[in-house]
Amino acid sequence: MKTLIAYSSTLGCTEQCASRMKGELGEDVEMIRISRRKKYDLDKYETIIIGGSIHDGLIQHSVRHFCDIYLDELLKKHIGLFVCCIDPDMDEKELIRNAFPGKLVEHALASGYFGGELNFRKMNLLQKIMTRKAARLQREPEIDFEKILLFAGQMQNLNSRSNRYHPQGLLNI
Ligand SMILES: Cc1cc2nc3c(=O)[nH]c(=O)nc-3n(C[C@H](O)[C@H](O)[C@H](O)COP(=O)(O)O)c2cc1C
Repeated sequence: MKTLIAYSSTLGCTEQCASRMKGELGEDVEMIRISRRKKYDLDKYETIIIGGSIHDGLIQHSVRHFCDIYLDELLKKHIGLFVCCIDPDMDEKELIRNAFPGKLVEHALASGYFGGELNFRKMNLLQKIMTRKAARLQREPEIDFEKILLFAGQMQNLNSRSNRYHPQGLLNI
């Protein structure tokens, strides 16, 4: 059965993470950029990994909308959740809890925070102004590729194990 990585990416960072994960997960993995205007047939997927990035404290509306309208179907799948952002002080568990519906967070096999990037070249003026504060960060934010590899490995392991028994809880990467 297939795996779907459904993501939203404003400036390309989450897309990069999704693409890296696809490479790690091997064959039978599809990637889609979530759009509110599209309808999705999720029947053919056994595993669905959902990701987005944080802008002004919130994950993209399209990601939240996708989770809300397909919630019943998603609760029948093996689920992974991930988020990209740059706030060095955030609590990872809280970040995931705020980004996705509670039921989905409880149901997920794994969740991950993969860091982020500030891609000024792709930003419009408003985005540059909004990230002015963030630009004063001590360290240049970057994607944590090791966490992506760890997450992909966990999804593969838990997927094969959960075919035998139901997992007891969420694994934070
Ligand atoms: C306008 C704007 C607002 C942002 N707001 C936040 C924020 O509230 N918290 C945070 O941790 N990162 C914030 N970021 C950083 C993004 O989460 C980070 O750049 C991420 O890598 C973007 O991923 P994407 O390119 O897939 O959209 C913001 C970035 C922009 C451009």
